[in-house]
This record gives sequence, structure tokens and C-alpha cells, in this order.
Amino acid sequence: MNSFELNKIMGAVLGALLFVVGMGILSDIVFEPEPAGIAGYALPLPEGAETEVAEAAPAEEPLPILLASADVGRGEAAVRKCASCHSFDQGGANGVGPNLYDIVGGPKAHLDNFGYSSALAERGAAGEVWGYDELYAFLENPRGYISGTSMAFAGIRSGQERADIITYLASITENPPPLPEAEAAVEGGAETDEAAAQ
Ligand code: HEC
Repeated sequence: MNSFELNKIMGAVLGALLFVVGMGILSDIVFEPEPAGIAGYALPLPEGAETEVAEAAPAEEPLPILLASADVGRGEAAVRKCASCHSFDQGGANGVGPNLYDIVGGPKAHLDNFGYSSALAERGAAGEVWGYDELYAFLENPRGYISGTSMAFAGIRSGQERADIITYLASITENPPPLPEAEAAVEGGAETDEAAAQ
């Protein structure tokens, strides 16, 4: 092997290397690679989202206030959630749950022809009734209010929705009890009036 041949080999190797590097540079120029950056994109948070979550739970108006602004139509729409188990018309058939016509102010376990859980039947036997407060508490958390109830329903978190439903139930009750009054406000007012009169 003379030096001329060696030069040719070295030249070929260098040429090949140059070609590879050149192609890399060339493809970079042709395809303009962009920096990968951050995958995806940040979703904008709705304004005040965090504060809303923090405030929602404790700031619920008392039931009398909720009932005052309740709406029968909204309640009627909301009881579709109950319709898989309950009927609401007078004399309507019992389903998985009892018919709920004439329930407000009525005795717990109000129907003779429905097979209640012993937990609810005992409440009825003890003379407890479904007043506004009782329904309000039951519908928020049925099993929390009557442990052992067979009503397999998670409950409704929104106090206003429960008040709407109770207002609808009262609208299909023959003689619903009078609406509860905002006691604190009324009593406070009455006391000051009395004090002023003396
Ligand atoms: C998955 C079926 C189911 C759903 C959904 C359901 N309930 Fe019930 N409900 C029952 C059963 C079963 C009982 C009887 C409970 C017992 O005996 O412990 C009952 C009992 C009741 C009672 C007591 C009736 C009485 O005679 O004492 C009321 C009031 C009531 N449900 C209201 C509602 C309302 C309002 C909704 C919708 C927001 C609802 N339920 C959704 C199954 C259901």
C-alpha cells in the first residue's frame, strides 16, 4: 500500500463523514426543527374558581330563606331523579320506593301498602312526621339521617334544590303544614318590639 492509496482511503472516509454531517445540517435547514417546549397547553382557570369552591360548602342559607325563594317548577323538574323509584300522582303505584303524594307533614312510613325498612317503619311507629326540616335533612343524606333506610340514593347537596323539591312535594300535599319561619330574625324582631313597648 503506497501513500497515494492511503490518501484515497482517508479521503473516502473523510468524505463519508463530511456527507453525514452535511446531511444533518442540511436537514436541519430544510425541516427547521423547533424546540420541543412544553407538551400541551395550560387551560385558563375560570376566574374566581378557587374561591368559589372554598366558599360553596358553608355558605348555605337557612331552610326558611331557601323555601321562600323555592320554585315548584324547578322542584318538579328535579324530582325526575326520584322517578325511577317513586311516583308522585294521587294513588300512584309504589315502585322501588313508596308513592310520595301527600307526604309533607305526614307520618314517616306513610303508606300501609309499602314494605318499609324496619328503620323507617320504627320512626313512623314512634309518631315522627315528614316536616320541612326532616325532609330537608333526609334528602341531603338519606342514610345519614335514617341509618338502615332502604332508600339507595346518595342525596342532594344543593340546599336550594332540596327546598325546590320539598316545595313541589308540598304542592302535591292536601294540607301541607305552614312554612317554617326564619325564627332567629322573627324572634329577634319580636323581642325588640316587646322591649320597646314596655
Ligand atoms: C333508588 C330508589 C330511590 C330513589 C332514586 C329515591 N328514593 Fe326515596 N325511597 C326509596 C325507598 C326504597 C324508600 C323507603 C325507605 C325505607 O323504607 O327505609 C324511600 C323513601 C322515601 C321517603 C319516605 C316515604 C315515607 O313514606 O316515609 C321520601 C320522602 C322519599 N323517599 C323521597 C325521595 C325523593 C324526593 C327522591 C328524589 C330526590 C327519592 N326519594 C329518591 C327509594 C328511592
